[in-house]
Amino acid sequence: MATDLGNVIEEIQSKLDIAEIVGSYIPLRRAGRNFKACCPFHNEKTPSFVVSPAKQIYHCFGCGAGGDTISFVMKHENIDFMEALNILAEKVGVKIPRFKGSSNGKSRSSASTLHRINEFAANYYNALLIGSSKANNARKYLVKRTLNADIVSKFKLGFASGEWDSFLKFAKAKGVSAVTLEKAGLVITGKENSFYDRFRNRIIFPIFDLRSKVVAFGGRVLDDALPKYMNSPETDAYVKGKHLYGLNFAIDQIKATDYIIIVEGYLDLIIPYQSGIKNIAATLGTALTVEQIRLIKRFTNNVVIIFDADEAGEAASLRGLDLLVSEGLFVKIATLPRGQDPDDYVCKNGKDGFLKIIQGADNLFDYKLKLLLKKFNPTQSEDKTKISNEMLPTIKRVENSVLRADYISRLSKALFVTEDALNDELSKIKLDYSYLGEARKANKQNFDIRPAEKIITGLMVEDPDIAQKVREELRHDDFNSQEIRDIVTVIYRLLDENKIPNAARVIHNLNDDHLSHVICEALSETENFIDREKSFKDCILRIKRDNMICKRVKLTGLIKEAEQHGDDTRLMGLIRQLDMLKSERV
Ligand code: CTP
Ligand code: MN
Repeated sequence: MATDLGNVIEEIQSKLDIAEIVGSYIPLRRAGRNFKACCPFHNEKTPSFVVSPAKQIYHCFGCGAGGDTISFVMKHENIDFMEALNILAEKVGVKIPRFKGSSNGKSRSSASTLHRINEFAANYYNALLIGSSKANNARKYLVKRTLNADIVSKFKLGFASGEWDSFLKFAKAKGVSAVTLEKAGLVITGKENSFYDRFRNRIIFPIFDLRSKVVAFGGRVLDDALPKYMNSPETDAYVKGKHLYGLNFAIDQIKATDYIIIVEGYLDLIIPYQSGIKNIAATLGTALTVEQIRLIKRFTNNVVIIFDADEAGEAASLRGLDLLVSEGLFVKIATLPRGQDPDDYVCKNGKDGFLKIIQGADNLFDYKLKLLLKKFNPTQSEDKTKISNEMLPTIKRVENSVLRADYISRLSKALFVTEDALNDELSKIKLDYSYLGEARKANKQNFDIRPAEKIITGLMVEDPDIAQKVREELRHDDFNSQEIRDIVTVIYRLLDENKIPNAARVIHNLNDDHLSHVICEALSETENFIDREKSFKDCILRIKRDNMICKRVKLTGLIKEAEQHGDDTRLMGLIRQLDMLKSERV
């Protein structure tokens, strides 16, 4: 089975053109034999993201992201391996036979198993809401909240009845084990290993990912009971802050209008959506994360955030928005009257009323400045600094120099201070990029790898003849660095299988971000070598010599030790070894 899948992957890969696929996601610019772009995985001004059609790989020299076409699609779409493979198979017209389990036995299938179970649960809750007499009150409640049948079916809303185990029983009868249900967060383990339903007597809101797969649920009570909402825990299919509720239904309209409205709650999204405002997504009550911002960036650079009047006064909630600016988005803030959320507002004022609020949104700079000018007095020295301390970090994040200059000039007028003074303070600000921690880690240089080992690795994945010749000269444990050994092991195995160990294939077989990065770094060094034949011979020589020196140093140490201990037999053996080593020529 595994090799069948292996063949299919091979076939798909052979038909893929990485530049075409990557180019369908982000604009690529030709640069010699390669293509360049601004990296879609971190925010940057100058392109350090390179796509190599010859090697069928991509690599970002800024954040270290890199891999083959499949891994690009996985990363960009935030999906698992099989899903990416399916998308690509469709593009190149290859049929993927149905496989049980996954290609490499790792947890790759786990997320899709959970998707299936979640889908199953969503259907169950939805059928209950639509058809069961147990859901009479739930249906009444939704009518009271002005939801119509179409929207209930579009968002696949459901109802969980009041019993402790009705879903559990139903699922078990269909052959789904309680343990699996627990992994999906749908049941909870009680005392003595008994299980019970997580969601009881609640309206169910399935949370979809971008591809409309159900990844989690939220459940609302029908009255004022607490907690008002209960949500799925994090699972293999659901990590909080990685999805935006409703985004899957909003994509077309976001593209068409070139902006997105961000709200907080389930119904703050559904009610405007029902009224025809479809370029909208919800954070579900948390601050926007970098992952969510990157999801947004795939479709638009313009964001309108809706604040209710209460939180709008908080400078702290505004500071959170600086992240959007850091990621290069244009942010506007719309404010609703005190005590109202988008759901209330659309119910009272309709679609047009809500659109007016959106149209009246201020950009973040103006909004913040207005707010601060209400709070502080710009003619007083201390208040001037309070205002500039809040404004400057936002301005600092603006990448466009003209826009930044304009903001500084306007701030200088508002505070009655010179632009020089503001620019001076601006230059002192150090931005906190710790949220990029993961990307930074991947960017760690691999100083501990000997240059010759790295270069030869680059040459091997570029040229199968070189790989073959290296194999005749060096065993995998002739390499000093563990990373290179791992890579070389895969290269040798591919050669054994009569497969060309090109970079894309090696990266794919390794399935390890760090090792992919090592390969890409190696390739970036060997790319411009003219005399590859001589280079790899030099490297082999170098590696053998280095190893020889290492061995000699080690033997000399052991000989000294044996001398001190008066261990003559051992001494003789060691001296013979050293002689042999010396007679070996490299
Ligand atoms: N939320 C949550 N858990 C809670 C309260 C809120 O997950 N205990 C999330 C929900 O996604 C909710 C959002 O935060 O939709 C906003 O909360 P809130 O304003 O309290 O609720 P509304 O969305 O206005 O819900 P409703 O209109 O049904 O009262
Ligand atoms: Mn509400």
